[in-house]
Amino acid sequence: MSGSGARVNSRHTVAELLGLGARRLAGAGAESAPATARLLLCHALGVAPSGLILCPAPSQQQIDHYRDLVEGCAAGRPAQYLIGEAWFRGLRIEVGPGVFIPRPETELVVEAAIQACAQQVDAGRDPVVIDLCTGSGAMAAALADEVPKAQVHAVELDPGALEWAGRNLAGTAVTLHAGDARTVPSGMDGRLDVVMTNPPYLPAALRDQVTAEVVDNEPEAALFSGADGLNLIRELVPRAAELLRAGGLLVVEHDPSQHRSLPDLLERDGHWCQVRDHDDLTGRPRFVTARRDVMDRCIDQLVEG
Ligand SMILES: C[S@@+](CC[C@H](N)C(=O)[O-])C[C@H]1O[C@@H](n2cnc3c(N)ncnc32)[C@H](O)[C@@H]1O
Repeated sequence: MSGSGARVNSRHTVAELLGLGARRLAGAGAESAPATARLLLCHALGVAPSGLILCPAPSQQQIDHYRDLVEGCAAGRPAQYLIGEAWFRGLRIEVGPGVFIPRPETELVVEAAIQACAQQVDAGRDPVVIDLCTGSGAMAAALADEVPKAQVHAVELDPGALEWAGRNLAGTAVTLHAGDARTVPSGMDGRLDVVMTNPPYLPAALRDQVTAEVVDNEPEAALFSGADGLNLIRELVPRAAELLRAGGLLVVEHDPSQHRSLPDLLERDGHWCQVRDHDDLTGRPRFVTARRDVMDRCIDQLVEG
């Protein structure tokens, strides 16, 4: 850790290494420096985040690897790209340049979808779920892992992201669809119990507030969506209304700045009831849930014959 002012060697304890790494990263302006140092150290030591406390004394080779990772991160590269993995609801998700890194706040978005699925399972039904804009596949993989009875679909447009999703969803029960979430897959209208999505939603107007680490490394198509960030969501909302059965649940992650505009959009769309906005664990407005209106769906079905 060249900027830490201290030489790291195998006499350092795990706690000291964490402190050195966190200070180096904080000094380089990294966000969440202690959590990032912990992630990098776990990777260098070959343990899952929960295993760090039981880890034996690190070897010099492991410490050198940790130091290189910290320096890469201090130079502005995302920790998860450097180590090739991110953790999401206890699952190891492979990531790298070309795919959005799954975020901790999205874990709570999936929780809402899982709860809705659990109610279906308790009622003796196997829920059908879709993850629109799946990126690495993290949300779909977590839902399939935690609700084994669910039939899970995932859609992604970007070929680069699709490759990562394919890797992460291989061996799971998730069906991956390549294409535009506004139209793909077809033939499922009115059949779904849950539509969940963490689409690109950052307002272009807030670009200056997004860290260079994110803007310089993660795919543009995964981040921004027009001046107010709602361009794609405006088209996904009517699509979700087509896909969901009456009473089905829509879960959409959003930017905190959209905590009024997105619920308003759903209210105005006319296909939704029980529109609610929810905070993330840091207390910031983070996702909206809404139920496909029962009466409205009945009218749609009558019109469709
Ligand atoms: C914010 S990332 C979220 C990825 C993942 N859901 C997660 O939470 O980690 C948004 C993803 O939407 C994809 N995307 C953007 N427009 C799309 C579209 N029209 N149809 C399908 N996927 C799209 C991007 O390629 C990107 O992978």
